[in-house]
Amino acid sequence: MRNVVAALDVGTSKVCAFIAEAGDDSHALLGYGCEPCTGLRKGVVVNIEATVEAIRKALEEAQKSAGVRVGSVVVGVAGPHIRGLNSHGIVAVRGGEVNLRDRERVIDAAQAVAIPVDRQVLHVLPQQFAVDDQEGVRDPVGMTGVRLEARIHIVTAAQSYSQNLVKCCERAGATPSEIVFEPLAGAEAALFAEERELGVALVDIGAGTTDIIVFHGGAVMHTAVLPIGGNHLTNDVAAGLRTPVTDAEKIKKEHGVATNLVVGRDDMVKVPGVGGRPQRMIQRRILGEIMGPRMEEIFALVQRELARSEVADNLASGVVLVGGSALLEGTQELAERIFNMPVRRGLPNEKRLTGMPEDLIKPMYTTAAGLVMYGAGSASGAGLGSLRNVRLLGRWRNVVSEWMREFF
Ligand SMILES: Nc1ncnc2c1ncn2[C@@H]1O[C@H](COP(=O)(O)OP(=O)(O)OP(=O)(O)O)[C@@H](O)[C@H]1O
Ligand SMILES: [Mg+2]
Repeated sequence: MRNVVAALDVGTSKVCAFIAEAGDDSHALLGYGCEPCTGLRKGVVVNIEATVEAIRKALEEAQKSAGVRVGSVVVGVAGPHIRGLNSHGIVAVRGGEVNLRDRERVIDAAQAVAIPVDRQVLHVLPQQFAVDDQEGVRDPVGMTGVRLEARIHIVTAAQSYSQNLVKCCERAGATPSEIVFEPLAGAEAALFAEERELGVALVDIGAGTTDIIVFHGGAVMHTAVLPIGGNHLTNDVAAGLRTPVTDAEKIKKEHGVATNLVVGRDDMVKVPGVGGRPQRMIQRRILGEIMGPRMEEIFALVQRELARSEVADNLASGVVLVGGSALLEGTQELAERIFNMPVRRGLPNEKRLTGMPEDLIKPMYTTAAGLVMYGAGSASGAGLGSLRNVRLLGRWRNVVSEWMREFF
């Protein structure tokens, strides 16, 4: 039987639906659809109608091109309401040897932190275990000891925001089967396992938000969402050049630069006139002067988050930039200067998601590609999505506390 998975990236600038067939080592893209969307601000739904319409169109197109109909989707969530926190727990090992049940119990114990009732647990991601004094254990099952300790990373979302997203999907005719923190999906698409092992930060600079996920030793060490992105750059250009936002967006994409380090002294660009005035030529360096400080601000905020991850000095694989704004010329150069680390641009891995047309192998499609890979990985038991059991456990706890609240 074919194992078909659908995913939705509901972003601030566009909605993308990807449909793929899950395989063992790689998955095959069957169809996709992308629609501009105006229903979100800074990563969260602010207009249900507009969002539903964009989701419906993107899904319709994806289903048409894939030649299949789908009922459920893996949906991505981001937005500044997302919180990531590290936690740890300890349990006594009953039989002298750690079994699967002990592993579950210790993750459960680590999860027993006070999570406000208006928040939903999205992911419970084990980092490492310790058995007695032996630290840095990846999988403790089968080890001898009396004390088992777990370190985990928990990602939570504000219930109301994720509910609005779920509502939009349902109204558009698709039931979310899983809600996935977007950069975790992006990591599936754009990072290599070796990078996650050595230490790496994935930074997704979209239209409304900049999402960060930090890996070290193969585990998630830190997550964050900053309410800043490409829309700020567009607005800066519009204000700086006194042109309408739609023109500013075009100028930014065609001629924008993150730093004047990459601009020639005499580079000139054409700027459309406003209100019937003729178009004019300006020095490209002016664009650099307008956009540079904003990009520096974004990267300074990212660096602050990296410092919070406590592994900032151990990111041997540096930083991987994804999201549409990673296409801005000079972004990599500026990031390298600020982070003082190697920086590369990330793309959806076409070996692990086969059948992607050229048009999709761009940094703004890593989330959608990652979400469908994540869903397919959950289905086949491979990849980052195989952490599903632990996650469902987390959700189950939520349901239980929901009941408790109703009864008491
Ligand atoms: N060539 C380019 N140069 C500069 N910026 C670009 C370029 N192409 C796209 N962008 C910008 O990328 C942003 C869109 O990126 P992306 O599709 O990753 O965002 P999104 O997923 O819709 O939003 P978010 O993830 O923030 O909710 C827009 O701000 C757009 O202007
Ligand atoms: Mg995005």
